Amino acid sequence: MPRPLMAPPELLHTDLTGRRYVVTGANSGIGRVTASQLVAQGADVTLAVRRPDDARSVAAELDGPGSVDVVALDLGDLASVRRCADTLLAADRRIDGLLNNAGVMNTSEGRTKDGFETQIGINHLGHYLLTELLLDRLRASAPSRVVNVSSCYHDVAQKRTGEVVLDDLHFERRAYDGWKAYAQAKLANVLHARALAKRLDGTGVTAVSLHPGWVRTRLIRHSLPVWAQDTILRPFLRAAGMIEPWEGAQTSLYTLLAPEVEEHPGAYFSQIGRYRDRALDGGGWPMRSPNPQVHDDGLVDALDAHSRQLVGPAA
Ligand SMILES: NC(=O)c1ccc[n+]([C@@H]2O[C@H](COP(=O)([O-])OP(=O)(O)OC[C@H]3O[C@@H](n4cnc5c(N)ncnc54)[C@H](OP(=O)(O)O)[C@@H]3O)[C@@H](O)[C@H]2O)c1
Repeated sequence: MPRPLMAPPELLHTDLTGRRYVVTGANSGIGRVTASQLVAQGADVTLAVRRPDDARSVAAELDGPGSVDVVALDLGDLASVRRCADTLLAADRRIDGLLNNAGVMNTSEGRTKDGFETQIGINHLGHYLLTELLLDRLRASAPSRVVNVSSCYHDVAQKRTGEVVLDDLHFERRAYDGWKAYAQAKLANVLHARALAKRLDGTGVTAVSLHPGWVRTRLIRHSLPVWAQDTILRPFLRAAGMIEPWEGAQTSLYTLLAPEVEEHPGAYFSQIGRYRDRALDGGGWPMRSPNPQVHDDGLVDALDAHSRQLVGPAA
């Protein structure tokens, strides 16, 4: 297996005093480790989470000169997304980076509160609205970043090719398949970053997407018991390429913090992964996605317009 890509040590010692980051899904896994590192570097970090009580315990454990606060966010409920944005904007503070990190994978068929298919609803549409609502503040805080945590599964997920089907985003006409729905949602994360990059050209807000690696987190819980992953299977999974949360946070930290990322608006940054072209498995910061839909400008614009229509006004 290729070795995980690691952020330059000096980047992870940069003083972030005075900078503020919002991390969705920061209660666990990659989001939690990313938030922890930002606080350790002196940043003010908002944990935007579905379970605020748990996040308060997480916040108490984050150690460093930066500050931590918690805001409730259920990405499966657009009213909750709007309340979260209102809270974030009410505090008259800058936003240097929004890490759209929360996600679910391979869930059984279901709907969000607003009637969207669960995975496109939580992974893409909830984040789409949150980003829209925070855009003015991100612009006012420029140079700033929007980072979408996607997946190499936007290309191929468990043999299902990633495909956004605009006229059946919610699997009303197709048979539901949890991996297909995940691949579609993660492809939407990549297309969303591309659309933002087009719209934000010249504003100083840089939007990108990334694959964090195959990381030992709770994400697997709808496919495999987490205890099995973390105990009996762990050495085998590591040998097969699974990495630890600290390694999984590297691409998020790099894309949030590295100055050179500004030169790649809309780009996709990949930790080691699994692609249809195995030559790409070593990843790259940035890397050209092998999924042709990523490079379809018409689809980028169409998904952007469709998503905006689905989530309603961003005001
Ligand atoms: N782990 C991997 O191998 C891997 C690979 C590729 C991409 N990714 C991506 O990495 C991101 C982080 O996942 P992870 O691996 O760190 O898994 P994780 O530990 O399960 O973290 C996901 C977070 O998202 C939150 N979340 C789920 N549904 C939510 C909702 N409706 N509203 C708000 N928050 C919600 C979860 O909160 P609760 O605890 O409340 O459920 C959890 O804290 C995801 O976007 C995932 O697709 C992970």
